[in-house]
This record gives sequence, C-alpha cells and structure tokens, in this order.
Amino acid sequence: MTANILDGKSLARSIINDLSRRVSQLTFHKLTPALAVILIGDDPASALYVKNKANACDQCGIKNIIYRYNNNVSQQQIINDIYMLNDDPTIHGILVQLPLPKHIDIPHIIESISPRKDVDGFHPYNVGRLAVGSPTHLLPCTPKGVINLLKYNHISLSGANVVVIGASNIVGKPLSNMLINEGATVSICHKLTTNLSDHTRNADILISATGHAGLICSEMVKRAAVVVDVGISRNADGRIIGDVDYENVRKIASWITPVPGGVGPMTIAMLLENTVCAAERLLN
Ligand code: GUN
Repeated sequence: MTANILDGKSLARSIINDLSRRVSQLTFHKLTPALAVILIGDDPASALYVKNKANACDQCGIKNIIYRYNNNVSQQQIINDIYMLNDDPTIHGILVQLPLPKHIDIPHIIESISPRKDVDGFHPYNVGRLAVGSPTHLLPCTPKGVINLLKYNHISLSGANVVVIGASNIVGKPLSNMLINEGATVSICHKLTTNLSDHTRNADILISATGHAGLICSEMVKRAAVVVDVGISRNADGRIIGDVDYENVRKIASWITPVPGGVGPMTIAMLLENTVCAAERLLN
C-alpha cells in the first residue's frame, strides 16, 4: 500500500482563491479586511512565519500591518497597543506571534485581545465556546486546518478512533475538542505518556504535533491509518521535516500529509479565513 497524499498546499490555494472573492465583496462595501500582527523579538522562525502570513494576506487582498518590537519591550506597552487595535474600526484581526520573551505573560496578552478580533482563537472566551460546543466564528487555525483537510478528503471523523500527540493550547487541546465535537473518540498523548505506541497503534487517525523529528515510525502506525503530521523541525541540512518517518509510514498508511505542503499551508489559509469572517461579521 502507498498512502494517498493529503495535499494541504493545493487545498489552501483554492481556499485563498475563494477568499479573494469574499474580500472583493467586502471592498465593494468599502470594507477592506485588515490583520494586525504583533512580532516581538528576533526569533528567525517567528519572523519567517509572520512573513509567510503577510504574503498570503497580500495574495487575497487582506491588508496586513506588522508591529515589530524589541525583545525587551514591556508587557504593558504591548497591552496598550492591543487596546488601541481593539478600538480601531479599520482592524478586524489581531495576532500576537508566539512564543514570547520570558518576561511577558502569554495568557495576559491573549486576554487583552478583543474576542471578536481574536483570529488565532486563543482567547478564553473563544476557547470556552469551542469547549462547550457552541458555534464560534474564530477557531484556532492549525486545528481548523487539520479538520478541513480531513473533511475535504472525505475522511470520516464520526466514530473514528483518533489519537492526538501533543497537548498544547495552540494545537493539541483545541484540536481534541473539535474532534470530539465531530463525534470522534479522542485520546490525547503528551510528554508524560508511557508506552506511546500502545496508543498510536489503535488509531484510525493519528495526528502528531510535537516538533520531534522522526517520532512516529512505521511500527507505531496501524495498517491503513490516516496520518497527519503537524510537526515542524529542521534536519542537519536545514530542510524542514515533520514528526513522522514519512518514507516508511507512507507504505502502510492510507492517507498521509507531506511536510512541507500538508498542514502548514492550511494554517495560513485558516488565518485568512478567520480575518475575512471577522470583517464580514460587521456587515451581518
Ligand atoms: N506560533 C506557532 N503557531 C502559532 C499560531 O498558530 N499562532 C500564533 N499567534 N503564534 C504561533
């Protein structure tokens, strides 16, 4: 067996094309969707992610403004600027690129963002709505991208045994809640999980979001499982690789995401969609 490819790159391209049309509709109503991105410090990975997000915004006509700060900026300065953006009617989405320098308290920063402009879906108001299964406009981008990629390829979630590796606030926890809302049976594994493969071998759908290159080898995967790789790290040559031993796992999986070209482009497409949704709500 050779796995089918879950092609996030081409799905993201078509989503961004559709978004361009929605942006044109909004501009017809004199409303240009705008995303404010806050980038603190000089982490090269964060700078690259922000650049990719800005380029994608440009592709579909979303205005984007990057606010750059030194590593030693005060927490209060960031919060004051977020309050200003909350009150600015020309800004529809606010994103603070994570991680942040150690002296800045992430929950404090996230809670200062208006839930209506929280295009990352990290504010406790939006997290809570997801947890209780209420309709929410703003879902975290990577989990939303994973769910859309699976659904687009007609992979059924209802009743599926899904194992998620990684319990972060950005991916693992919100993804698990979305999967539960879709009717999946979800196991969440993390750093302290013992005998990881006892869990993973049971998975109809295995989703790894750890950033540990090569964590998932073929012996850990059930035959014909769907394998989604959310991990991103770099090998010794600087090439981007995921958590999954792709070459071997693709021989036994039914579907697999490549890295790059799987979940990554979907994350960006979902950020753009959230920004357009946040703007559209002003007309509804
Ligand atoms: N850092 C890594 N992933 C993300 C994300 O989805 N949003 C933000 N704001 N920062 C991140």
